[in-house]
Amino acid sequence: MGKIAVLPGDGIGPEVMQQAIKVLNKVSEKYKKTFEYTFADVGGIAIDNHGTPLPDDTVKTCENADAILFGSVGGPKWENLPPEQQPERGALLPLRAHFKLFCNIRPIKIFNPLKSASSLKEEYIPNGLDIVFFRELTGGIYFGQPKEISADRTVGKDTMIYSKPEIDRISRLAFDAARLRSKKVTSVDKANVLMNSIVWRETITELHKEYSDVELGHMYVDNAAMQLVRNPSQFDVIVTGNMFGDILSDAAAMLTGSLGMLPSASINESKFGLYEPIGGTAPDIAGQNIANPIAQVLSAALMLRYTFGMDEAACDIENAIEAILEEGYRTGDIYNKGSDQKLVKTDEMGDLISAKI
Ligand code: IPM
Ligand code: MN
Repeated sequence: MGKIAVLPGDGIGPEVMQQAIKVLNKVSEKYKKTFEYTFADVGGIAIDNHGTPLPDDTVKTCENADAILFGSVGGPKWENLPPEQQPERGALLPLRAHFKLFCNIRPIKIFNPLKSASSLKEEYIPNGLDIVFFRELTGGIYFGQPKEISADRTVGKDTMIYSKPEIDRISRLAFDAARLRSKKVTSVDKANVLMNSIVWRETITELHKEYSDVELGHMYVDNAAMQLVRNPSQFDVIVTGNMFGDILSDAAAMLTGSLGMLPSASINESKFGLYEPIGGTAPDIAGQNIANPIAQVLSAALMLRYTFGMDEAACDIENAIEAILEEGYRTGDIYNKGSDQKLVKTDEMGDLISAKI
């Protein structure tokens, strides 16, 4: 049996989550695998119901599960709270730290039928796009100490720090992934300026000796930002630190045309994982049954792949989505006005995907 902690969160979270569960139930039938879902509040709704974005009970629910399926958190209602109480920071960062989810995997893929939705002209992505980010998630400038604001609030301080073991473990996973793909890793750093980047580069270069069948390249982060919007096809697996990964993966995400399409996985040493869409809560369209559920459904696919070892089921979901898009079904965010595409609602998209499995 698979025990899943379901944390739908705010905005469009609950309605897209319903579709992911619909699809998981279909997978459950087909593969004779039982899933047990335990729901818990997180983010703004948890602030409203329990006074904190990450209640202890929610953490316990997650501790008792094999994986967390996460929706999204935040919204205008909670925007003016002090930073540490805000849904995003107050829920996601502590969850990442608590479960030691050091490895954030963000596949950036253009489904063929959506090529024209990319923010790049098609001539820049002749072969579509298929990149995977391996972003270090529990270290770097996000968590380094000291981290403080002076009493008079005139100076703010963060510490960017990386040590060899942290770099080593994320890089290993990136190399392992590259072996199953086109055997190419680009490590992104700022070794021309930052000391922690020098250690980053030295560590991964040393580790590379164990992976000599994989090609390793190094790139400064500013150049990587440029290359991503100039010639993204040169990348396959990108491995980088917490903040660089945050920024670059958002830029890369837009190359696919919609944030509503992209899942992510955050995993630890024991394959426990938190699975969530990259996009936010989209408060402007929440509750209207028009949001794109695909990122949430793909996040469930990543959960099947990385936590439950059900790669075939994950591929089933991914193929079902590709097929549905090929048939012209679109939610509003990826719909071309005046085309012969078929505009569908959130729940219809969920139905279509599960029917294909
Ligand atoms: C992300 C988000 C988070 C981050 C925020 C909400 C704390 O932007 O998952 O990329 O910066 O890591
Ligand atoms: Mn981000």
